[in-house]
Amino acid sequence: MNYNKKTVKDVDVKGKKVLLRCDFNVPLAKDGSGVITDDKRIRAALPTIQYLLEGGAAVIACSHLGKPVADFDKWVKKQAEKGKDPASLTREKWEKSLNELRMEPVAARLSELLGKPVILADDVVGPDAAAKAAGLKPGEIMLLQNTRFEVGETKNDSATAKALADLTGKDGLYVSDAFGAVHRAHASTAGVAQYLPAVSGFLIQKELDFIGGALADPKRPLVAILGGSKVSSKIGVINNLLEIADTIIIGGGMAYTFSAAQGGKVGDSLLESDWMDYSKEMIQKAGAKGVKLLLPVDTVIADKFAPDANSQVVKAGAIPDGWQGLDIGPETVKLYCDAVKDAGTVIWNGPMGVFEFEQFAAGTKAVAQALSETGAITIIGGGDSAAAVQQLGYADKMTHISTGGGASLEFMEGKDLPGVACLLDA
Ligand code: 3PG
Repeated sequence: MNYNKKTVKDVDVKGKKVLLRCDFNVPLAKDGSGVITDDKRIRAALPTIQYLLEGGAAVIACSHLGKPVADFDKWVKKQAEKGKDPASLTREKWEKSLNELRMEPVAARLSELLGKPVILADDVVGPDAAAKAAGLKPGEIMLLQNTRFEVGETKNDSATAKALADLTGKDGLYVSDAFGAVHRAHASTAGVAQYLPAVSGFLIQKELDFIGGALADPKRPLVAILGGSKVSSKIGVINNLLEIADTIIIGGGMAYTFSAAQGGKVGDSLLESDWMDYSKEMIQKAGAKGVKLLLPVDTVIADKFAPDANSQVVKAGAIPDGWQGLDIGPETVKLYCDAVKDAGTVIWNGPMGVFEFEQFAAGTKAVAQALSETGAITIIGGGDSAAAVQQLGYADKMTHISTGGGASLEFMEGKDLPGVACLLDA
């Protein structure tokens, strides 16, 4: 995939109406109050928004928020699959589920951060959005309702994409800064680019530069630290990084499948027995390619999955029944931290243990600290690893923390990203 894309700086924005796709999919308080618990994604879009407004563009911003189901029958089907009683699945409940994902809280926060009004449309491509977009002046910004309220959005329906493009009037422009959603081929992330000249904003450019740069031409040695619970969710990344990295470090729950694949005893630890052969294959492949593959040599085990569990340290592959591994052990910590000391680039995706429980956070903490002290370029994949680095207080010590969870994972898998592929090449 070509990561060298035109940006807002390569086009004339003055006097244009710009459809700006952001990833404002922010976490909301669970009580349904609409309080945004982390506004990082809104802040991440500010440089592009400010550049467009100051450059004399009128900005029509849009984003999805959560996973609303725009079609009532589909919603009923999905809820029933989750085990909900079909008799309780009323239209009122469905409407409530949509109302909880309206963009009002995002518009309010964006307005506070920009220090100017954000006009909020009541629909996505309906009459209200069309009227407000038509009246929008240079230097003004509006926000469409949740793009996933449109049935055509997730289907990448061409009529929906064209309707979005039409909001910009004559001579419009599409700018994408929604890095977190570039792995989705939706109407607002990809389809719309068929109807408008399409360029990237500063956030996408930054993500492409750092992650793309680390994958295409890394400062070596390139060390990849892969954790998280499941091998199955990291197969693509391991496969791709085996072609690129000098060292691959495995931690987190998935290490137990690797351990079992080598004949180790993993007790009650998380185990994906279907992936044991694959894990063995990866160990062989690493050997054949001369990639150093580091696996835990010891592990912190617990007698239950709980913050107050009894714990002890045992050798890897020697976990008694009734116990489960929840973190890498102290010898492994030393081994892994030594491996990043002389790295040129470190890519980290997935925690080393259950860092949410203080007792099992030491491995993830130590790796985060080691990354904060190495002179290497440090790139943190979004999602859990980004949350861990933030929660542990090392965020400002990393070179780059991705704003995309699934998107950064698919990027590291070497997959084509529809929301990037659709932008004009530089
Ligand atoms: C994310 O939170 O990873 C992005 O906003 C994409 O959201 P989605 O998984 O609902 O498409």
